[in-house]
Amino acid sequence: MTESLKKGIIRRKKTEEPLLQSKQDWEDTFDTITDMTIIQDKDFNIMRANKAARQILGLPSLEINKVIKCHDNHHGKDYQRNYETLKKGVPAIFEFFEPNLNMYFEIRAIPRFNSNNQFIGLIHIIRDITERKRFEEKIQLQLKRLNVLRDVEKAVSSSIDLHFTLDSLLNQVTSQIGIDAATVLLLNQQTQMLEHVVSRGFRSSALRYTQLRLGESNAGLAAVERRIVTIPNLTEEPDGFVRSKLFNNEDFITYFAAPLIAKGQIKGVLELFHRAPLEANPEWLEFLETVADQAAIAIDNATLFEKLQRSNLELTLAYDTTIEGWSRAMDMRDKETEGHTQRVTEMTLRIAQEMGIKEEEFVHIRRGALLHDMGKLGVPDNILLKPGSLTEEEWGIMKRHPQLAYEMLYPIEYLRPALDIPYCHHEKWDGTGYPKGLKGEEIPLTARIFAVVDVMDALHSDRPYRPAWSKETIFEHIRSLAGIHFDSKVVEVFLKMEW
Ligand code: C2E
Ligand code: SIN
Ligand code: SIN
Ligand code: FE
Ligand code: FE
Repeated sequence: MTESLKKGIIRRKKTEEPLLQSKQDWEDTFDTITDMTIIQDKDFNIMRANKAARQILGLPSLEINKVIKCHDNHHGKDYQRNYETLKKGVPAIFEFFEPNLNMYFEIRAIPRFNSNNQFIGLIHIIRDITERKRFEEKIQLQLKRLNVLRDVEKAVSSSIDLHFTLDSLLNQVTSQIGIDAATVLLLNQQTQMLEHVVSRGFRSSALRYTQLRLGESNAGLAAVERRIVTIPNLTEEPDGFVRSKLFNNEDFITYFAAPLIAKGQIKGVLELFHRAPLEANPEWLEFLETVADQAAIAIDNATLFEKLQRSNLELTLAYDTTIEGWSRAMDMRDKETEGHTQRVTEMTLRIAQEMGIKEEEFVHIRRGALLHDMGKLGVPDNILLKPGSLTEEEWGIMKRHPQLAYEMLYPIEYLRPALDIPYCHHEKWDGTGYPKGLKGEEIPLTARIFAVVDVMDALHSDRPYRPAWSKETIFEHIRSLAGIHFDSKVVEVFLKMEW
């Protein structure tokens, strides 16, 4: 080797050393990033993957060059749609399921350009969002189940209504068969008293208050002896009635009491009254028995129905427990907002009461308030929990949360009346809100109330992007937005109350 050649090599090494050092620095830094980070060329070839990406995604060593191709359809339509805009320099965020790993990832794709402004590829920053996705899936499943249960309930409730059934039965007996008046007494299983449920053809309504002990009066006798009691001429023996005074102006002559028996149990008594003599031949008595059987079956079904209704009430309670659970879980995700949902719910109800909203709406207001930010489940962590202010693109995603809530909750019938708050709580009085830009009283009152409360509570809590405000500052802020962001009437009521 000549002297000059040796010198040349040494010189080269000297100039390479800082380069090598900076390469080492770069690689160390790259590998230290805890988010999986992948560098791709414009054809989606993976050029480099940092340590986290290699470990979690099982990608080969640091410098892969050409080896792995990331198919552009691999991430679905979302990605393809984004690709054109990515090439123009707009970063994209999308979610991605990796079936082999059974994991969900959130991928942030950041486009790269060379000094001539040519698109040269992408950096992917990938975060594991499996836990959040599983939670979302669980909620979706619960939503579906609630729906199925609701359908069952609807089918049951449309099938039988005792009053309706018995009323049409009496209608048949009176108008079709030509009996002047009829009534059904039901045996109250708790008190063992016969109580009036429906009647037809009476001149007075006093009968509605009938309550007879078993064995008492002719109806009681029919029940206890389980046989039809017939009185051919009431004018000759009126004493069999506890209610005889009530019948003074009725001019009844013929009377029948038929026991209503289903599955061997006394359900009640059917009584017929006629203002003319009526011969009780065997055919007539047989017919009466058939009618009584029908009535007994209807009552039996209806009792079953009532039991179902009762367990349905329990079901509703179970739904509400589910809703409270969701809302707590949502608060937990957005750690800083812990307790926010419960607080705004109570506050909204207080103002609603003060403003004279009907009690029967409260249950919907409560559910709506508990679920108001349900749509934030669709907002990725890096936006929801971002410590700084949002970019235009992130804000676009954030603003979808009322619409998302609407889409999630609308299919559940019993939550439909509760949609106003989740859907309209970011509308503003002057029409500059979202999602629809509703104005003034176009915005449902409950949402107008909720908007004040939501802002009050949001400002009173620390957020990742700012510390809590003092109460005085908040009240001042809300007062200044009356008639702009908020309904002035709501603000007035709000400021008068004690918080
Ligand atoms: P949120 O935190 O529950 O806030 C609800 C509403 O309270 C906001 O609706 C806004 O009207 C009011 N509010 C909350 N914080 C502030 C504040 O610092 N200053 C003022 N003047 N008002 C405030 P908005 O603006 O439609 O925001 C909806 C949601 O978007 C917020 O719910 C929050 O989750 C998110 N968000 C809003 N701004 C930012 C931000 O700068 N950074 C991050 N990471 N998220 C934000
Ligand atoms: C990638 O998705 O970026 C690479 C891995 C693959 O396509 O399977
Ligand atoms: C990527 O697309 O950057 C890698 C994600 C993957 O294929 O798992
Ligand atoms: Fe919201
Ligand atoms: Fe909120």
